[in-house]
Amino acid sequence: MLEKPLLVINGVGFALSFVLAALRRSLSFRLKLLRHSMSSSSSSSSSEPKKPKNIVIIGASIAGYTAARTIAQYLLPDSENRVVVIEPRDHFHFTWVLPRFCVVEGHEHKAFIPYGGYLPAGSLEADGGKVAWIKDRVASISRDSVSLESTGDEIPYEFLIVATGAGAADTLPSRVPATDKPQGMELLREMQKRIRESKDLVVVGGGAAGVELATDAKSKYPEKRVVLVHSRDAVMHRFGPKLQSTAMDGLKKLGIEVITGDRVVSEDKEKGVAVLKSGKEIVCDFLVNCTGQRPDSRLVAQLSPASISESGHILTKPTLQIQDDSLPNIYACGDVSETNTTHPNSRSAMRQASIVAYNVISATESKEPKEVYIPHWMDGGIKLTLGLDNSVANLGDGKTEFIIPSKEKDVALMSAGAWHKLGAKPFVDNGSEFLSKIKSKI
Ligand SMILES: Cc1cc2nc3c(=O)[nH]c(=O)nc-3n(C[C@H](O)[C@H](O)[C@H](O)COP(=O)(O)OP(=O)(O)OC[C@H]3O[C@@H](n4cnc5c(N)ncnc54)[C@H](O)[C@@H]3O)c2cc1C
Ligand SMILES: *[C@@H]1O[C@H](CO)[C@@H](O)[C@H](O)[C@H]1NC(C)=O
Ligand SMILES: *[C@@H]1O[C@H](CO)[C@@H](O)[C@H](O)[C@H]1NC(C)=O
Ligand SMILES: *[C@@H]1O[C@H](CO)[C@@H](O)[C@H](O)[C@H]1NC(C)=O
Repeated sequence: MLEKPLLVINGVGFALSFVLAALRRSLSFRLKLLRHSMSSSSSSSSSEPKKPKNIVIIGASIAGYTAARTIAQYLLPDSENRVVVIEPRDHFHFTWVLPRFCVVEGHEHKAFIPYGGYLPAGSLEADGGKVAWIKDRVASISRDSVSLESTGDEIPYEFLIVATGAGAADTLPSRVPATDKPQGMELLREMQKRIRESKDLVVVGGGAAGVELATDAKSKYPEKRVVLVHSRDAVMHRFGPKLQSTAMDGLKKLGIEVITGDRVVSEDKEKGVAVLKSGKEIVCDFLVNCTGQRPDSRLVAQLSPASISESGHILTKPTLQIQDDSLPNIYACGDVSETNTTHPNSRSAMRQASIVAYNVISATESKEPKEVYIPHWMDGGIKLTLGLDNSVANLGDGKTEFIIPSKEKDVALMSAGAWHKLGAKPFVDNGSEFLSKIKSKI
């Protein structure tokens, strides 16, 4: 009887402690800055400029971008360290809306948010700050440097933050397999067109992406036959039983056929069918594959195979250093890492990224990293859309579970909020401003 109120109290307590920790860090930084400005005003100008020590961040999605912002915020002005972000994409990809924009037309530009605005003002090197940003992919890493894919340049690092995420399969609707915005928008439009023109749509995978895409497609095109195939006994099987049954009800209510406990093994395009493991064939003129998100841990796997879990995630210590005592300067956060959080998402990725940032800053001051990531069930909340105007929020600690249904008014969901959060004016993007300030090599 008391479980729900206790869970609420626990959740509020967590939120409060989170706010207090942020305040404590910000206050201690301000004090440090004050002490610093009082003691070093005279001595700094004469010293010779030294080669900066690099804090290299690989990947600037939720985790890497948050780490870059936080470190840029808290590095002292005359620190000998700088941040080097390496990211091949020219825009931030807002994954949350991708299933929606695979179906709904005319909003695809909103999924690509211009970079730059989330960094503290003036922090790019081009503006005199401490963040160098390189538009490239890291091809390999060693104990003290990373090498770039297109130029082959080696960039030495003092600290390395691996935030390469879970886009290893890199396909819509979970990730956009393009590094530039016009091409990414084109891929979304192609997907919209194929879905629009299909009569018998088969969606593979009953996780969040599959459920959202199937329900959006059926609610936009009620006349289509939509079949969702999921290999487990329940859709959303990683979540609690209430969300599983709410999602199933949502699918059924729209008239989607759901096949569970079976999987699509091939697609026979000539015959126009999808073939299931059970031997069953279902009519199919377009198949959307919503499975196959995998952690992209290749870089660390080459250097430290023992730090990779069976599922391909990078094993981390509570400080989010990788689990290899010989490489104490390498950290991992976000979807690529195994942090024991139950449902990895943007929220847990951001919390981990700030912990990595504080630990790296301490380490630059020759202090032991001491902030730890302790997973909390509040990190694992999810909002799931069930058609164009319905959604449910879900929170739980594995024993007790809340379902909060709501009506969605904005077809572009949280896009505008995400632009604001990342320091961009929705949906103003002339692209060139940030890109003119970054480089392809160091
Ligand atoms: C369809 C969908 C809906 C979602 N909805 C929600 C939601 O509503 N709420 C929520 O909290 N979470 C949601 N998530 C989860 C969320 O998107 C992820 O948890 C989050 O994106 C993880 O961020 P990340 O930074 O770890 O990695 P990713 O977002 O996977 O990004 C990895 C980054 O690393 C870069 N990279 C990869 N390899 C290299 C390399 N070799 N060199 C340089 N850069 C590299 C990539 O270009 C990319 O920018 C959703 C996910 C999906 C797929
Ligand atoms: C879906 O994609 C995954 C990952 O790429 C792949 O392993 C799987 O075979 C694909 N399934 C279908 C039915 O195409
Ligand atoms: C996750 O759990 C494992 C096993 O208990 C532990 O070794 C590891 O340090 C934990 N990771 C984090 C980030 O707490
Ligand atoms: C690009 O954006 C900047 C800042 O928003 C603005 O000052 C500038 O005029 C824009 N340029 C074009 C060509 O729209």
